[in-house]
Amino acid sequence: MFFIYIIAFLEIETLKLITMIVSFISYKGGVGKTTSTQNTAVCLAHAGYKVCVLDADESTSSKDWIERRSAEMPKIDLIADNDEDNIGITIQELQQEYDFVLIDSPPSQKPISSIILLISDLVIVPLLPKGAQETNTIHQLMKKVHNLEATIGKEIMVRFIVNKYKDWVKSNLVFMEALKELYPNKVLDSTLGDRDEFSKVTHSGKGVYEGNDKKAKAEVIALSKEIINLG
Ligand SMILES: Nc1ncnc2c1ncn2[C@@H]1O[C@H](COP(=O)(O)OP(=O)(O)OP(=O)(O)O)[C@@H](O)[C@H]1O
Ligand SMILES: [Mg+2]
Repeated sequence: MFFIYIIAFLEIETLKLITMIVSFISYKGGVGKTTSTQNTAVCLAHAGYKVCVLDADESTSSKDWIERRSAEMPKIDLIADNDEDNIGITIQELQQEYDFVLIDSPPSQKPISSIILLISDLVIVPLLPKGAQETNTIHQLMKKVHNLEATIGKEIMVRFIVNKYKDWVKSNLVFMEALKELYPNKVLDSTLGDRDEFSKVTHSGKGVYEGNDKKAKAEVIALSKEIINLG
C-alpha cells in the first residue's frame, strides 16, 4: 500500500516537472505577444500536448479568440487571470494538469509582469525590427530581469523572437545582427514574417497552423520546436 502511494506520488512529481510555463512578454504594445501565444498554443495542441493559455492581459484578446474556436479543433483551454495577487496560485493549479501553460502578458510594467517573469520557465520577448526604440524597450525589460535574477539567485531564461521580419530588407538584417550582438545566444533562430494570415485566422479562433499559408505555418512549427527544445 505504502509502495503504491510512493509510485503515485512520483508520477505526480514527474508530471509537474514536465509542465512548461512559457510567457510571451514585452513592455511594448502591438509587438505580437498575443499572436505568438495563440499560434504556439495551436501548434502544440496539434502535436498532442495538453495546452492552456493564461490570458493575463485585461484586454482579454486571447479569451475572445478562444471563444471563437470551434469544438472540432484540437482543444486549448483558457484561463483569464490578470490579478497579480492571484496569478501565482492559478499557475500552481494549472501545473497539475497541462504540458504547456502559455501566458499572454499585458504590455506594461505592472507588478503582474514581474510575477510572470518569476514564474516562467521560458520568457519569449517578441519584438519588431525597428531599431533603437525597440532595443530601448528590451533594455528596460532586461534590467527588470537582471534585478529579479539577483533577487531569487537564479537565471530567468529569456529569448527574443523577431516578428514581422523581412529578411530581404537591409534595415531588418542590420537590426537582427545588432540584436544578436547585444544579446548573444538569446535570439531565437525562428522569426515570424509579416503575413496577413496571422491576423486573418484569429477571426475564427484559429492559428496559422490551421490556415492556408504554408510559410506562416512553417514559421510557427519552427518556433514551437525551439520552445520544446528549450524545455
Ligand atoms: N507576423 C505578423 N504578421 C502580420 N500581422 C501581425 C503579425 N504579428 C502580429 N500581427 C498583427 O499585429 C497586431 C498586433 O499583434 P498582437 O495583438 O499579437 O500584439 P500584442 O503585443 O499582443 O499587442 P497588445 O500589446 O495590444 O496586447 C494584430 O493585429 C496582429 O494580427
Ligand atoms: Mg496582446
